[in-house]
Amino acid sequence: MKAAVFHKIGDISVDNVADPRIEHDEDVVLKVTSTAICGSDLHIYDGFVPQLKDQVLGHEFMGIVEEVGKGVTRVKKGDRVVVPFPIACGHCFFCNHELPGHCENSNVDHYGPEGNLTDQKGGGMFGYTDLYGAYSGGQAEYVRVPFANFGPRVVPDGMEDEQVLFLTDIFPTGWSAVDWAQMQGGETVVIFGSGPVGLMAQKAAWLQGAKRVIAVDPLQYRLDRAMKLNNVEALNADDDDLIQKIIDMTNGRGADVCIDAVGMEASRSVGEKLKAVINVEKGTSKIMENCFKAVRRGGTVTIVGVYASNYDNFPVFRIFDKGLTIRTGQAPVQKYIDKLLGLVRDGKVVLNDIITHRLPLSEATHGYDIFKKKEDDCVKVVLKP
Ligand SMILES: NC(=O)c1ccc[n+]([C@@H]2O[C@H](COP(=O)([O-])OP(=O)(O)OC[C@H]3O[C@@H](n4cnc5c(N)ncnc54)[C@H](O)[C@@H]3O)[C@@H](O)[C@H]2O)c1
Ligand SMILES: [Zn+2]
Ligand SMILES: [Zn+2]
Repeated sequence: MKAAVFHKIGDISVDNVADPRIEHDEDVVLKVTSTAICGSDLHIYDGFVPQLKDQVLGHEFMGIVEEVGKGVTRVKKGDRVVVPFPIACGHCFFCNHELPGHCENSNVDHYGPEGNLTDQKGGGMFGYTDLYGAYSGGQAEYVRVPFANFGPRVVPDGMEDEQVLFLTDIFPTGWSAVDWAQMQGGETVVIFGSGPVGLMAQKAAWLQGAKRVIAVDPLQYRLDRAMKLNNVEALNADDDDLIQKIIDMTNGRGADVCIDAVGMEASRSVGEKLKAVINVEKGTSKIMENCFKAVRRGGTVTIVGVYASNYDNFPVFRIFDKGLTIRTGQAPVQKYIDKLLGLVRDGKVVLNDIITHRLPLSEATHGYDIFKKKEDDCVKVVLKP
């Protein structure tokens, strides 16, 4: 079959690879009908999340069940399903606590309680490096889906692929970022990053009762899209007075909730890049730090942007002094997906309006290139195998 294969930093090509097959009783094999490129894929592409061997990428995908293992009871051949990106067994301690990203059974070789950069990671993910389970991803014609009694959800008849594709990751991720703040209604929410995840967090913030939603991004075309699609206020991230502006807009206190939907690959000055080299850091923690500055005392910062490094001089004092609540991590997609599918089905939210590019899988290399370079006003690329 054909699949988008990561070879080395900056090198992804569409190659012929072996077809996936059933390896365990609870596996299914899907014929992929739609798949998307995520900002998280760029961390592998750019070398911020390391992968030494070739790997089929892709953790946002859906398709038709082609083959089922003999222990699969929840889906059958011919079902059309969307698949959460965390691979999780559904019955371990963490799965029972609605924390599928920390499943104890899906990352056999590199799982551990302490959490470190090598052999103590969380649960497995599709197409997300050997350290996260070495699973082939879904930017491919076919994909093996383990634990098929827990992950895949059948799509109701009449719903198009593009309406539900983002239930695999980015809508539940944006939803988590807001849900983690446990809003009471009437809050001002500032969302750093107006890429696919930021746009989804904006939608979730309105749905969860925000009074004001403010988007921050250095790219004007992405801010324009956010204002048009999600009716948010917008601030340019390159504004020297950015934090002061947020404080001025919020009665001199700061926002109730700040969300980091950017992660470690935020835009940086030469000086910031030099600091990273000297301190042996990957990227920057500046977006988190901006959140800590721009949030009000006693407020909440949630971090869904990905980090794969430690950082020197991390502002622990500011967090303590302001009495902040912080929540972060991979989104527990399985926890939210049924409720969110209901919101889409009932017309409470539209997700596919963020798609800017639809390409055949054979053009995945080009898709990665324009998404990474933010060319051609690219926001979200959907690939069709
Ligand atoms: N936690 C999770 O479960 C989860 C799931 C999906 C994605 N993610 C992560 O979310 C992040 C965003 O993903 P995406 O798909 O939207 O990627 P993206 O790269 O398209 O979006 C990042 C956005 O941040 C903006 N940005 C860059 N520097 C900035 C700055 N200094 N201030 C404000 N904005 C800045 C970029 O212009 C871009 O619009 C990535 O780190 C991705 O890995 C996490
Ligand atoms: Zn993703
Ligand atoms: Zn589990």
